[in-house]
Amino acid sequence: MKQTTAVLLARRPGRSFVASDLSIGTIDLPELQAEQLLVRNQYMSLDPSTRGRMDPGEKQYTTNFDIGGPLDGSAIGVVEQSTSAAFPVGTTVRHRMGWREYAVLDAATATACDLTKAPAQSWLASMGQTGFTAYCGLLPVGGFAAGQTVLVTGAGGAVGSMAGQFARILGAERVIGSAGGAEKCAWLLDDCGFDAVINYRDADFGSELPALAPQGLDLFFDNVGGWQLAHGLNNMKIHGTIAMCGAVSNFGTQEQPSTAVLIETVLRRVTIKGFIVRDFEHLRPEFEANVASWLASGQLIDRATVFEGIANAPSGLEGLLNGVNLGKALVRLSD
Ligand SMILES: NC(=O)c1ccc[n+]([C@@H]2O[C@H](COP(=O)([O-])OP(=O)(O)OC[C@H]3O[C@@H](n4cnc5c(N)ncnc54)[C@H](OP(=O)(O)O)[C@@H]3O)[C@@H](O)[C@H]2O)c1
Repeated sequence: MKQTTAVLLARRPGRSFVASDLSIGTIDLPELQAEQLLVRNQYMSLDPSTRGRMDPGEKQYTTNFDIGGPLDGSAIGVVEQSTSAAFPVGTTVRHRMGWREYAVLDAATATACDLTKAPAQSWLASMGQTGFTAYCGLLPVGGFAAGQTVLVTGAGGAVGSMAGQFARILGAERVIGSAGGAEKCAWLLDDCGFDAVINYRDADFGSELPALAPQGLDLFFDNVGGWQLAHGLNNMKIHGTIAMCGAVSNFGTQEQPSTAVLIETVLRRVTIKGFIVRDFEHLRPEFEANVASWLASGQLIDRATVFEGIANAPSGLEGLLNGVNLGKALVRLSD
């Protein structure tokens, strides 16, 4: 029996996650059965949802982690052993067995990635679940149309930076973002084509937003929840749409607004649509074709903050939850 280095859940986090809630250990790698792959992971994705999966209650859409057990999540790597004709040795595959250096997985759970279309990092970012989440939230969920005014919260992160750029490429009238910190705001304005950005750590989001969208918002792509959701709701146009992607502020310690703010959905006849990206797999080919062409033409910027080595994955996740990443957060596990 071989073993691999992996990240384990040491204890369930308190209100704020800290890196020491995780530990580095070893797990067994089983012998390959029929239609299985041994993959050497090269990059793994850091995602806010990993924090939610450390809580005891089962979520509706995914499984939670056991104390002492390994974490998992999106990763990309190279097939080193294979019992599947569909995935010869040397194939680059994306799969769900991240948070470990090597993984044994069923071939049916792997997807081959064409590195001539995009580099490995992008298959976890713009061409991966991150970009797909932004695409689905904007188009089938948000019903985006050219000429609209769009607000994206958490705009300096992985999904937000994609959602804002997709809206710009697809002909938004105005793309407004919120992000924490001057560097993120400058990147969104100078490189990503946002028209305006609110640095919510310095500025009063609620008082700045009306001046940036005097006619109101057609579409609000919300990653953050909490007070940013409440302020966005207060600035919607009549019959506007809010695509609810996530609520990363729930993982912090800040005070949250009361549900009394929801009266604005009545007064403004706003539609709020929550979504889970996995319900839109039928759009994957269209999404990949569009994003590959936007990357190739240079219209789309796919930037990542990369943490080096599995030992830095726990502190990388702590950093992600504190907003240190510009664009997608990844951990490099091997060359
Ligand atoms: N619905 C789906 O199917 C689906 C799929 C994937 C992801 N998601 C959700 O999408 C959201 C974004 O994910 P991501 O991968 O883009 O994560 P990310 O890269 O960490 O981006 C999230 C951004 O939120 C900001 N943020 C963190 N805490 C905040 C707080 N308390 N108040 C305001 N902003 C805060 C962070 O930076 P700053 O604070 O510096 O701005 C960060 O840039 C998450 O809520 C995630 O759960 C949903």
